[in-house]
Amino acid sequence: MKKSILITGCSSGIGYCVAHELQTRGYRVFATARRQESVDMLLAEGLESFQLDLNDSSSIQRAVEETLNRSNGQLYALFNNGAYGLPGAVEDLSREAMRAQFETNFFGWVELTNLILPVMRKQEQGRIIQNSSILGFAAMPFRGAYNASKFAVEGWSDTLRLELRGSNIFVSLIEPGPIATKFRANAMKAFERYIDIEHSIHREKYLIVQDRLNKQGPTVPFTLPPEAVLKKVICILESRTPDARYYVTFPTHMFGLLKRILPVSVLDKLLAKAGHKHQ
Ligand SMILES: NC(=O)c1ccc[n+]([C@@H]2O[C@H](COP(=O)([O-])OP(=O)(O)OC[C@H]3O[C@@H](n4cnc5c(N)ncnc54)[C@H](OP(=O)(O)O)[C@@H]3O)[C@@H](O)[C@H]2O)c1
Repeated sequence: MKKSILITGCSSGIGYCVAHELQTRGYRVFATARRQESVDMLLAEGLESFQLDLNDSSSIQRAVEETLNRSNGQLYALFNNGAYGLPGAVEDLSREAMRAQFETNFFGWVELTNLILPVMRKQEQGRIIQNSSILGFAAMPFRGAYNASKFAVEGWSDTLRLELRGSNIFVSLIEPGPIATKFRANAMKAFERYIDIEHSIHREKYLIVQDRLNKQGPTVPFTLPPEAVLKKVICILESRTPDARYYVTFPTHMFGLLKRILPVSVLDKLLAKAGHKHQ
């Protein structure tokens, strides 16, 4: 029987790439998306697709039911991928903005995973793949909401991994650095929706943020295509005992190492510089 995988956020970027490539490799892929128009696009491209909006519990429940109906109650892997970045200085982030960021990037993932875990327990195997980020272990200025949501994903995944020891269900975090996707274009929408640019003490810097988010193509060196993440997903799916963490891109390897060896004061200097340079 084909191995099956449920993926969130397949309308673009990493989710889109991984869904197509895994189907080509013979996996049964449930390529979900938040919007119906994206589902229609994925269906037209030959993928199995239906809606899953991480902000909506009933949508998550319906998607899980749909998956299990189609797959005879089995699911080999879950790729928690759908998320977005909300840029902005911490002091400009309202409670509402932080909640919105966590609804998608964290609570949706938790709810979905908790619905899938009993299935994996019953079949006595599974892979939970978390698309975290370099920003899941390295903080940068103006990334507070996103940093907090990805740090949350990391802590939750570490706990889950301990709780699943011996169950033959593996939790793996992928930590990509810059990947060429629609991430910046989507971050721009969130930025304009939640940050009061005109009345902020950071107004001048926000003009640079807007400039960066509006740019087409890579804005930082060492940006890789989504296929770089795909490689790690395949590795996790095909390895008998996948690792807890997979770095993707040179900056992730570099900051992963620096975080282990440098004192906080020195690391802060580097992260502040890297963050401000790419504001
Ligand atoms: N690109 C990078 O540099 C980078 C680096 C590290 C980690 N990541 C992580 O990679 C993952 C994928 O991002 P990407 O780079 O591929 O960006 P992307 O092209 O913007 O894709 C993000 C996907 O998430 C979906 N999404 C947003 N809100 C959702 C919701 N409420 N329910 C379900 N899906 C939702 C989007 O759907 P819509 O089209 O409907 O908005 C889109 O399909 C994210 O977890 C991100 O944090 C990206």
